[in-house]
Amino acid sequence: MGVSTAFGDQPKVIRFLGDELVGYRNANGDVVLADNRCAHRGCRLGGGWIQDSHLVCPYHGWRYGSDGVCRHIPALRADESIPAGARINTYRTQEKYGIVWAWIAEHEPEPTYEIEYIPELDGMHHHPKADIRYLFKGHFTRTIENGIDPVHAPFLHGKSVGKVGPNADLTYPDFELVKGERIAKARFPVKVERISGIVRFFLKGEPETVYKEFRFIYPNVTVPLNRFGRLEFASVLAHIPYSATETLVEATNWRNFLQSTPFFTRWFDRETAKTGLQILVEDNSIVEDQDPRVVRYRGSNEVLIKSDGLVLEFRKVMRRFMEPNPPH
Ligand code: FES
Ligand SMILES: [Fe+2]
Repeated sequence: MGVSTAFGDQPKVIRFLGDELVGYRNANGDVVLADNRCAHRGCRLGGGWIQDSHLVCPYHGWRYGSDGVCRHIPALRADESIPAGARINTYRTQEKYGIVWAWIAEHEPEPTYEIEYIPELDGMHHHPKADIRYLFKGHFTRTIENGIDPVHAPFLHGKSVGKVGPNADLTYPDFELVKGERIAKARFPVKVERISGIVRFFLKGEPETVYKEFRFIYPNVTVPLNRFGRLEFASVLAHIPYSATETLVEATNWRNFLQSTPFFTRWFDRETAKTGLQILVEDNSIVEDQDPRVVRYRGSNEVLIKSDGLVLEFRKVMRRFMEPNPPH
């Protein structure tokens, strides 16, 4: 639902699948997430404020608790009681990896599984100053596929990441595909040769310690990891679906070096954020125009090859959950 630092003591509106949610932190510091419409007369609650840990509607001042139940109605007479229907839907939230995760499932009010463990981040630290957000003009299935695809980098990211020579080998040897119920992961060699941006400061290591890894976590998270010898950096990207044509990507940034050298840490955070944003802008130039806008998990007429292995696995995972009883 977004990075943890985005939620505080003011209502934050989140667009979600053509609708809106509102989030804030209650007195316990927990993120409360609710539908952004007042039960009284449909006013947007995001325009209100937080008072004593309650969400206050800006129209007639109804106050909602963390469970969504209305606790106070200023205009209520002494001979009236708060109507039973005076409540808004709330959703379970949990914070992990610098991200607020929300459980939004129509028929299951309580989470039925844990947030996936991301082993890549072991030994790394979160650097919130390098976190970024970017609004893609495309559907989240397209931004996710873009986010787990190593093959486009030498073509699309010449400016931000680096270029390849005219004789570069752009084939991908057999790569290991890790498959789980809700995840898919693969490791790929780095193809870019003339590296630009901050990445050029890393010394190249042996091929087995220079690689990219991408993890997909159902339904909308990707984790790209770069390893250059002993240096590792990664991001956790939440692809938040606004609508069929817009996806907000919020990313937390992680690395295992330059943790707290005052000047270099700040500089590196800034450069990382700048390069990260540039990469997403370049990605958007493609994603905003792909057809069809929404990936077809089944029966697509797109022609995939071996290097699309992770994309294919993503489609399989989505198919599994989007079509609980697939036709045989
Ligand atoms: S519409 Fe929210 S208090 Fe009236
Ligand atoms: Fe990209």
